[in-house]
Amino acid sequence: MTDVTDGVLHTLFHSDQGGHEQVVLCQDRASGLKAVIAIHSTALGPALGGTRFYPYTSEEEAVADALNLSRGMSYKNAMAGLDHGGGKAVIIGDPELIKSEALLLAYGRFVASLGGRYVTACDVGTYVADMDVVARECRWTTGRSPENGGAGDSSVLTAFGVFQGMRASAQHQWGDPTLRGRKVGIAGVGKVGHHLVQHLLEDGAEVVITDVREESVRRILDRHPAGVTAVADTEALIRTEGLDIYAPCALGGALNDDSVPVLTAKIVCGAANNQLAHPGVEKDLADRGILYAPDYVVNAGGVIQVADELHGFDFDRCKAKAAKIFDTTLAIFARAKEDGIPPAAAADRIAEQRMAEARRR
Ligand SMILES: NC(=O)c1ccc[n+]([C@@H]2O[C@H](COP(=O)([O-])OP(=O)(O)OC[C@H]3O[C@@H](n4cnc5c(N)ncnc54)[C@H](O)[C@@H]3O)[C@@H](O)[C@H]2O)c1
Repeated sequence: MTDVTDGVLHTLFHSDQGGHEQVVLCQDRASGLKAVIAIHSTALGPALGGTRFYPYTSEEEAVADALNLSRGMSYKNAMAGLDHGGGKAVIIGDPELIKSEALLLAYGRFVASLGGRYVTACDVGTYVADMDVVARECRWTTGRSPENGGAGDSSVLTAFGVFQGMRASAQHQWGDPTLRGRKVGIAGVGKVGHHLVQHLLEDGAEVVITDVREESVRRILDRHPAGVTAVADTEALIRTEGLDIYAPCALGGALNDDSVPVLTAKIVCGAANNQLAHPGVEKDLADRGILYAPDYVVNAGGVIQVADELHGFDFDRCKAKAAKIFDTTLAIFARAKEDGIPPAAAADRIAEQRMAEARRR
């Protein structure tokens, strides 16, 4: 047994970060499927979380990722007020090379075998079309296309939720929820980022964007010739003079020992998952007087949307739920102030409280 395996098993059974209810290793040699389904908690209801399809360098790394991501979903779902616990699945391998109908169907059978304890959805490397295939074998599948009873692309409500989180942050920091006249920098104008640009412009903000893909930047500048400017990279974006808000909407780890000391913004609020590179960064932000809206709180619009698919999707109902991200974010800032802790820690406390109360019932 390797050290990494020891680490994973220790996390699962002994660490404060662990305490998962169930971890399932799945294999279908015929299609090449190797997957890990991790159920962190069903305290609030069936575990809900997406399927990541990724070329992990080892099986141990995949298990560790499934444990980490599923735990994160417990907190996200609890904070979003959903009656769902946290779960996540990872499929090991390069989706470009091994993804096939047979593999996705085999995966669907494994998810179905859990009898609804885990409900799946899209994540990195899986798309609406893939969930349509998985759904043929498994009724506990969300993230499907509208033609197949799903809600389609979740980025619309994710962006709307992030916008609500930004309004709440502005209210807390400056006493007014409007973003009119504020300068907002978005790193990553993909599916979520480009909808966010739209919300900000409608509210009268000035938007600065960057993206590693030139065509993504071009698409925004062509669509919005006024009110949007582009900078070369994230490094330039976070140092932009007069920036009020920084919205990381690309990959995780945006807030780290290099970026936090040079941020010009007074608020960080974006869609990317796992923005804090390591424990302690939330305190560095607070020490610099930068208000951090916890990522899993403000980016919950997507999970709110997929959860709704289980009840027959209704866009207006979901939008009303995603609008509550405004109040939730304000409540977190208030709790942080009251307890003298950073907002990220306050969010964790509130989520843990909700799960503990559900367990006692
Ligand atoms: N789509 C959703 O509903 C949803 C829900 C919750 C969280 N998120 C998270 O939000 C983030 C964005 O999601 P998305 O669906 O828009 O993804 P996406 O892939 O459509 O967009 C990401 C964009 O970031 C760009 N990018 C990558 N690396 C970059 C870098 N170093 N600097 C600048 N730009 C970079 C990419 O080129 C791309 O345009 C991800 O972290 C995702 O996990 C998305």
